[in-house]
Amino acid sequence: MSVQQWVTPLKGLESLRRTEAPMPAPGTGEVLVEIHAVSLNYRDVEVTKGEYKHHKSAEQDATIVPCSDMCGVIIQVGSGVTQWAVGDRVLSTFLPEHQTGQVTEKELAGSVGLPLDGVLATHRVFPAHGLVKAPSYLSDEEACTLPIAAVTAWMSINGMRPMGQSGGKGEYILLQGTGGVAISGLQIGKAAGAKVIITSSSDAKLEQATQLGADYTINYRTTPDWETNVMQYTDNHGADIILETGGAQTLRKSFDCIAFGGLIDCIGYVSGKVDAEDDRLNVNILALRRTVTLKGIINGPKDRFEEMIQFYEAHQIHPVVNQVFSFAESREAFQFVESGSHFGKVVIKVQ
Ligand SMILES: NC(=O)c1ccc[n+]([C@@H]2O[C@H](COP(=O)([O-])OP(=O)(O)OC[C@H]3O[C@@H](n4cnc5c(N)ncnc54)[C@H](OP(=O)(O)O)[C@@H]3O)[C@@H](O)[C@H]2O)c1
Repeated sequence: MSVQQWVTPLKGLESLRRTEAPMPAPGTGEVLVEIHAVSLNYRDVEVTKGEYKHHKSAEQDATIVPCSDMCGVIIQVGSGVTQWAVGDRVLSTFLPEHQTGQVTEKELAGSVGLPLDGVLATHRVFPAHGLVKAPSYLSDEEACTLPIAAVTAWMSINGMRPMGQSGGKGEYILLQGTGGVAISGLQIGKAAGAKVIITSSSDAKLEQATQLGADYTINYRTTPDWETNVMQYTDNHGADIILETGGAQTLRKSFDCIAFGGLIDCIGYVSGKVDAEDDRLNVNILALRRTVTLKGIINGPKDRFEEMIQFYEAHQIHPVVNQVFSFAESREAFQFVESGSHFGKVVIKVQ
């Protein structure tokens, strides 16, 4: 039996192709997983287009299996593995070596889905310590969405707080757009008792966000000065936590609607990575003006992922799966994410 997989030479979505590879055997400390469902992240599109270059570890020419998020079942256990058995249902972690604490360059060099081969395959060998138990109340399609988007949102909201304290009660959380990270942040924030403000380019998506509990919604296309609305909605307090997924075109606005002592989590750059030439941010002044903490976020360690799963279980949070594509339709799934049409997560059902 062989492995069915998709590979990318990092040269664009049209160059994604389906191939076969020999079935691997798990070595010492490893397990072989039959992959059932894979979720897509913005990163996977960027990687496949050859545009994911802002980490040293990712600067390479290679042909790799893309994607990082999967849910599957262990079908073979290598020697020395005691924590898993055949039949266990598991989730991947984005950085298998990042078990706890601050991420390091060495751990980042082991990112699944560039530079390491990813999970868009029927089978893959994982280090036993790089997996977490999948929550039994979630389907494969729901559970596979957790490793990147949800863990990143969890760390953005709770990363600077002591383990086990789900933060956010009564605080204002601002989310940008309605992609995977933002909608995970909405679900976590509401479950934690926060007041949530969310922006989108689409009124229809904002209506969906309201159905999920968003307290305030703003269309950033029709209301380009949305930071003013954030100040109004919060009685001039500002947002306590901002999940900055927008980047170049949103960061200044975030500084203009952050609360005193607030936290801006620098997560992404969907509006661009480079500031406009006529907009020098002078971040030092912006940060001190309201005593802001600007925190770069790169996903989170395994122990915080497991902590998050306990929170999800306690609150019975079901991740929002917008559309499920078949394995054969993987390229179409990437194109769908690239188009930005989705709300929440896009999933590929592998088998
Ligand atoms: N640092 C980390 O660990 C980490 C982890 C995950 C993701 N990220 C980054 O975070 C960003 C979001 O990732 P994702 O996977 O959630 O993406 P995604 O699911 O592809 O969502 C992207 C969404 O961003 C919104 N958007 C586009 N332009 C925008 C703008 N100018 N202002 C506000 N929103 C805008 C759109 O929402 P609407 O259609 O509603 O307008 C779009 O659907 C990406 O840059 C990704 O690389 C970083």
